[in-house]
Amino acid sequence: MARQISVTLARPGMQLARSVYDDKGRVLLQAGVKLSEYHIHRLRNHMAVITIEDEISEGILVHEVIPQELRVQVQKTLEEEWSRLRSQVSFKRVSFSASFAKSMRLQVRSLLEVMRGTQIIKENMASLAGYDNGTYVHSVNVTIYSLIIGVALGLSETMLMDLAIGALCHDIGKTLIPASILTKRGPLTPDEYRQMKDHAAIGYRILKQQHEFSVIVSRCAHEHHERINGSGYPRGITGEQIHYLSKIVAIADVYDAMVMHRPYREGVPPGDVMEYLFSRAGSEFDFHLVQLFGKRVVPYPIGTEVTLSDGSVGIISNIDTDMPARPTVRIIRLANGTSVSPREVDLMKQLNVTIIRSSSVSVLEGIE
Ligand SMILES: [Fe+2]
Repeated sequence: MARQISVTLARPGMQLARSVYDDKGRVLLQAGVKLSEYHIHRLRNHMAVITIEDEISEGILVHEVIPQELRVQVQKTLEEEWSRLRSQVSFKRVSFSASFAKSMRLQVRSLLEVMRGTQIIKENMASLAGYDNGTYVHSVNVTIYSLIIGVALGLSETMLMDLAIGALCHDIGKTLIPASILTKRGPLTPDEYRQMKDHAAIGYRILKQQHEFSVIVSRCAHEHHERINGSGYPRGITGEQIHYLSKIVAIADVYDAMVMHRPYREGVPPGDVMEYLFSRAGSEFDFHLVQLFGKRVVPYPIGTEVTLSDGSVGIISNIDTDMPARPTVRIIRLANGTSVSPREVDLMKQLNVTIIRSSSVSVLEGIE
């Protein structure tokens, strides 16, 4: 994947390793393009992180859990439907377009097919989101994380379809929350926060009216912020009162929301978010589901930057599916800060070295 860098580090001449899309699924910049000052200026207004191919990351493969084409297609379907919903006056009369359920089912089948063949997620999908398409990228990410758990559990085809549609539509209620609240960069006032929390119940009411979808889909929207100890919202229900699939979506949602980059802050490193989930497993989240999630989603995705216990800094270059916590690291910088020609350290062999810190994006400049 080359590597993910903060857009503030982008320099003319760097080569983009992944295409950049807008909220309508149109290509803004094609993979392979060499960045100019103008491109960089545009990118800064669009996203926090880009994936580049440079001398440091040469040969590190781009990992895509699902093909970009399929992802963009699903995001586009969501964007079109969400825009339509936003333009409707009241959720009491809200209705989906005739083709939405059909498109959803077709696309979900394709996603499911890919996820059935996926053992483990090695990609940091947070880097795919721009500021304008973040909602849709997040919905697809939550679906992928939900499906990796659902497939591992051996759920039936029907349950997996419900899980995927429930995950894609979990935040559909946000279409009726004022944009001023959704896009606010500072902390919400108590009243704004109360309005924001309404999205769960609104989503439930919207989806309940759509008879093409199972009632479980609407429950995923209603219950994805509930926590098993009753500390969630909107109803503060507990344990078995929360549908099993909603508990899966809850984990996927928290994970992706925390790792995601925002205009005002970088994403939390995936390993730290995993720690967060484990610290709440059994209290807020289902213990078994968190365990399963931890086995299927790597703590240090390919292309992210880590600091090792000997003080050296590098990029994750390869991950063994059986031992994801001990990946191969391409060392770029020594503890004293000097740059070195990239060399690989396989942590499966170098057992005396551990990862002590990881960053959500690389802050390493090129090799001097
Ligand atoms: Fe939500």
